[in-house]
Amino acid sequence: MSDNNAPLLEIKDLVVSFGTGRRKKEVLHRISFDIKEGECLGLVGESGSGKSTVSNAVMHFIPVEAGRILFRGQDITALHGKKLRQMYRDIQMVFQSPDESISPHMKIGRYITEVCENFSLTRSADRAVKARELLRAMGLDEAYADRYPAFLSGGERQRVAIARAVSVLPSLLICDEPTSALDVSVQALIVELLRRLQREHGMTYLFISHDLPLVSHLCQRVVILYQGEIVEILPSTHLAQEARHPYTKKLLSAAFGSAMEKAPAMASLPDCNRTPDGCAFKSECPCREERCLRERPELACIAPEHQLACFLAEK
Ligand SMILES: Nc1ncnc2c1ncn2[C@@H]1O[C@H](COP(=O)(O)OP(=O)(O)O)[C@@H](O)[C@H]1O
Ligand SMILES: [Mg+2]
Repeated sequence: MSDNNAPLLEIKDLVVSFGTGRRKKEVLHRISFDIKEGECLGLVGESGSGKSTVSNAVMHFIPVEAGRILFRGQDITALHGKKLRQMYRDIQMVFQSPDESISPHMKIGRYITEVCENFSLTRSADRAVKARELLRAMGLDEAYADRYPAFLSGGERQRVAIARAVSVLPSLLICDEPTSALDVSVQALIVELLRRLQREHGMTYLFISHDLPLVSHLCQRVVILYQGEIVEILPSTHLAQEARHPYTKKLLSAAFGSAMEKAPAMASLPDCNRTPDGCAFKSECPCREERCLRERPELACIAPEHQLACFLAEK
C-alpha cells in the first residue's frame, strides 16, 4: 500500500432509490465508507441488501439520489460525457455472470483488448500481442485469442472478463460476486488470480460477496450491509473475535458454525416489523430493547478501524 490512510474511494451519505411516487423504494439509506489505496475491501450482505446497487452507483449505471462519491478526493458523483468515459480508465468492474458482459460474436482476443484500444493504450498492430499477453497472465491458452466465448468454460469466461477489466490497469477493480456462478474448484483459481493482481499491480478492490469466509480470506476490511444500511465495518482479521453487531454475529455463526454466545431469549416487545422507525435489524435482533424500536443507531467508531451501528456500542 502506498499510503495507509489515503482513501482511493469515499462514499458519503449515499442514498439510492428505485421507482417514483408511491412506488418509490429507498434501497440504500445514507451509507458511508471508504476504500484505501491498495486495499481489498469486502462488502457483505444477504441477497437484496443493496450490494450491487452500491457498485452500480459507483459505476454510474444508476442515478444517485443523495450523497457523494469521491475518487482520489475528487467528486465523481455527477460526472458525464468525456470525463465519465475517462473514469473507466481508473475504475473497472467484473460482474457475477461473465455471460452477461461477454459478447458472443466477438473473438476473445478482440474482446479483451477493446477497452485498451478505446483508451488508445494499444495500437491496432500490437493488439494481438497484447491479447496473448493478457491471456497468459490469466493462466489461459494464448490460442483462445482467435476463439469465440462459447468455446470456453464458465471459469475461463470469467478469467476473460477479468483480463478485459484489468487490461487498462485500473486503480480500482469492483468485483460483484465474481465467483458465485462458478464451481468451488474454479472459485479458488479466480481468487488466487485476484490476489496475484493485487500483489503485482497494487490494485485496489471492492469485493462484493454474500460469502463471508471468502471475503475474510481475501479482504483486509469487511463492510456488513443489512437492508441498505451499514451495520458494521471491521478488519477481517478481527472478525471472529471482535464482531459486535448481532447481524454480523448471525452471519458468522451461519458461515463458520462457530459456537457463538447463546443469544438471549427474544424480549417480548410489541410487533416491531411494521414500524418504519428504529434499528433496521430490530425485527430479528435477539438483543433488542425498547429503544431499538424508536431510535436508529448511527454508525460510530468504537475502536481503530472498527465502526458499529448498534446501541450495544454504549455498553
Ligand atoms: N433496477 C432496479 N429497479 C428496481 N429495484 C431494484 C433495481 N435494482 C435493484 N433493485 C432492488 O434493490 C434491492 C437491492 O438489490 P441489489 O442491490 O441487487 O441487492 P444485492 O446485490 O445485495 O443482492 C432489492 O430489493 C432489489 O429488488
Ligand atoms: Mg447483487
